Amino acid sequence: MSIGDTTRTKIANFAPMDYERFFSADVPSFLRSPVRDIFRKVDLQAICSFAGGYPAAVTFPTDQIPCLAAAVLEKYGTRALQYGATQGVPELRAAIASRYGVPVSQVQITTSSQQGIDVCSRVFLDPGDIVLAQSPVYLGALQSFRAYRAEVQEIPPVDQVQGGSGVVKFIYVIPDFNNPTGKTLTLEERKEIVALARELDILIVEDSPYRELRYSGETLPTIRELAPERTLHLGSFSKIFAPGFRLGWIIGPEPLLEQIYVCKQCLDLCPPVLDQYMACEFLTSGALDANLVNTIAEYKRRRDLMLGLLEKYMPEGTSWTHPDGGLFLWVTLPESIDTVALYDEALSAGVAYVAGSFFYPDGSHRNTMRLNFSFIEESKMEPGIKLLAAVLAKALTNKRL
Ligand SMILES: Cc1ncc(COP(=O)(O)O)c(C=O)c1O
Repeated sequence: MSIGDTTRTKIANFAPMDYERFFSADVPSFLRSPVRDIFRKVDLQAICSFAGGYPAAVTFPTDQIPCLAAAVLEKYGTRALQYGATQGVPELRAAIASRYGVPVSQVQITTSSQQGIDVCSRVFLDPGDIVLAQSPVYLGALQSFRAYRAEVQEIPPVDQVQGGSGVVKFIYVIPDFNNPTGKTLTLEERKEIVALARELDILIVEDSPYRELRYSGETLPTIRELAPERTLHLGSFSKIFAPGFRLGWIIGPEPLLEQIYVCKQCLDLCPPVLDQYMACEFLTSGALDANLVNTIAEYKRRRDLMLGLLEKYMPEGTSWTHPDGGLFLWVTLPESIDTVALYDEALSAGVAYVAGSFFYPDGSHRNTMRLNFSFIEESKMEPGIKLLAAVLAKALTNKRL
């Protein structure tokens, strides 16, 4: 028996305790991500997975990373390995500020845009408060809103706003290539959201990790550009550099950023410094934009391939969105199909998706699913859609019998 084995045996033999009483009152509101649970259960590389929201590894500038790291260490020396400012290193803040044409004082670097969502929730939400959001809702946002015990309601038309029991704090919106639907808001829809926020005198959290991944159609103004006085615009390096860096940013009015800055001090003191300098170097050297051209071409091809395959194989009565960018599309099946119930069968057949009802706070819309087209190898796309279509066709036939 090795020392490790002895220690393990001792740990396994401790007296059983009731741990439940230690958890805070927030804990029962925590929402597990079914998507992350899928990752734990299944080796996604071994099947045809349209489930996750991962970028394609070929879009990562892998061969440039050693040079970037060397250039950063040469330029900044030990500063790159030291703690940094809570707002982010000044060089990266300046680079983001110049990309958006805003003062540096309006830029806060975050340790991923998921942290951006969470820090906004933590700073603005009290238990019972209301967040207005598009329906369906990005799961990570739903998790944060729930964790702070806020209620999520669908954004009403501006002329149908009703006084409710809770306080509405902000509108959460993904204007470009929504996760999960892939939809993009028109200019009119953006203006309506701004009008609603002004009418209610509330904030807008604009979550925008996919904005730079446009494959067709015209670029529209951000909500922040339409309502800079009340919008927190969240950006991310995850889909335009690599998610492993866990870097994002918030652009917003200084008084709001000031509280976010204080809150972020207790989260992680500062965003990762070496990563920030590398992202900064990648951005300011022009390499990010050069890489983005290839990324967009790659994803456009994958999107078009998936749209063609859905057209070819999906059973009658099925429809799907035609996204102008991003990583996802949304499939609506005949009412009789239950994508939650079908999930294990699809997995056994070798194909994975995310059931659409997971993105609805009330678990409704069980005849929908989210498909990701960025992660799967292109050679697996056709076999995957064929498998999926076969599972759905079989379920439809069984319902009819
Ligand atoms: C809409 C949306 N917001 C935020 C995130 C989180 O991105 P990050 O990697 O920057 O945390 C994602 C990730 O998939 C997303 O789809």
